[in-house]
Amino acid sequence: TTVLSVASEVFPLIKTGGLADVAGALPLALGAIGVDVTTLMPAYPSVLAQIESAETVAAIDDLFGGPARILAADVAGLSMLVLDAPHLFDRPGGPYVGATGYDHPDNWARFAALGRAAALIGTGLVPGYRPDIVHAHDWQAALAPVYLEAAGADRPRTVITIHNLAFQGAFPQTIFPELGLPSTAWGVDGVEYYGSVGFLKGGLRASDRITTVSPNYAREILTAEGGMGLDGLLRGREDRLSGIVNGIDVETWDPNADPHVAATFDRDALFRRVINKRALEAEFALEEDDTPLLAVVSRLTWQKGLDILAESCDDIIAAGCRLAVVGSGDRMLEGAFLSAAARHAGRMGVRIGYDEVLSHRVQAGADALLVPSRFEPCGLTQLYALRYGCLPVVSRVGGLADTVIDANFAAQTAGVATGIIFAPVTREALMEGVQRLLALYADAPLWRDMQRTAMASDVSWTASARRYADLYNGLLQERA
Ligand code: ADP
Ligand code: GLC
Repeated sequence: TTVLSVASEVFPLIKTGGLADVAGALPLALGAIGVDVTTLMPAYPSVLAQIESAETVAAIDDLFGGPARILAADVAGLSMLVLDAPHLFDRPGGPYVGATGYDHPDNWARFAALGRAAALIGTGLVPGYRPDIVHAHDWQAALAPVYLEAAGADRPRTVITIHNLAFQGAFPQTIFPELGLPSTAWGVDGVEYYGSVGFLKGGLRASDRITTVSPNYAREILTAEGGMGLDGLLRGREDRLSGIVNGIDVETWDPNADPHVAATFDRDALFRRVINKRALEAEFALEEDDTPLLAVVSRLTWQKGLDILAESCDDIIAAGCRLAVVGSGDRMLEGAFLSAAARHAGRMGVRIGYDEVLSHRVQAGADALLVPSRFEPCGLTQLYALRYGCLPVVSRVGGLADTVIDANFAAQTAGVATGIIFAPVTREALMEGVQRLLALYADAPLWRDMQRTAMASDVSWTASARRYADLYNGLLQERA
């Protein structure tokens, strides 16, 4: 089976969130079980800079207002095709947001181009390469299945994965004629979404299969509360929808071989973990002691429920914990955490920014990771936390509920608990979770056992890569 995976960010080349981790790790896991994955992504300047020797394998004369080339390169074990279209991608800023902090005004064209290029490659643009499946990730790639549907019968099968239904890629109707889609695509069976062009909506309609990144989120998005306006469409395609939980790259995230941490450790040498705790205290200018050190590594947004945490900082410190926060995003939240840290110097530290290395050090040194998300398709930080014996305290939503085993009485008795789950996302419930955590922490042997259990959780891609492979096979058999 050959698969063209299409994504707007791919770790280690460029990353703004979990999508990049998945788009970077899943192809490797699939490769290990014989699925041949090639990844298509835009040639942002920083991506081009990391590609050492690229070969031009195809050209497109006019792709949304300028010429484009497809470059092929092997990077970090990934077989890459890179869409080099300077008029769309050669500019400062991030993948979605310009240097000024606002979305690139032509994001519709930039990501329509990604989808268009994927469809062209899917139908033979690159000599000698013809994928069986085109697998699009999120709204930025979602027009790939739409263009392929318009390409007719002799096309690869299509899969779209929803990483976050909150980002739908909705644009004004006026762009529709520019997309080069048949006029029939303007309508409820096409890309139209309440009078706008909806990239994700179109992709969900056109794809042969829809997946999302946990079984629980797959159920939540069928409801009015979780469906973000797309639940009706999704309910209509429920037989095509499945939830496959994310894994993590267990080599990049290996506490026993992590180059970023002060002391490596494993389940049988947990005593070494305290070296990382001391290093983290120093890094955040915290008092050295043995009270629990709670941490956050996150985009600072409403989705993540961090306004609730910001309001709870005083209570958490008063309860005897210390707090280390790494994140960036919402200015109000950044300010709220900074001022809480100023009120609690020595007990709370904040690092505003994006720092991959520090994120490893936090997982290796903190006692617990707080993830109070309002919704969470899968969540990866709690998986890193499990692997690093940093016990996750999570809200009961989406993939968080699928990946953490709450330390309730039955789970403790059976020795399977790996963290704490609280609900709903309120200050009261969060504080109850923290209180339960404190009680567990006070029982050192119990805590150590829970860390060991957490570290033994299977957070690898092995099982889930199998599920994707089965999904691809099922799809191909359907055609045969
Ligand atoms: P989302 O994709 O919704 O942001 P995930 O938990 O799936 O949530 O993935 C977030 C990823 O981004 C994780 O790899 C996490 O470690 C990383 N991350 C988030 N914020 C930061 C930060 N400030 N510094 C370093 N890594 C971060
Ligand atoms: C999205 C979701 C997150 C998920 C990630 C990777 O960013 O917010 O929950 O883990 O995609 O699938």
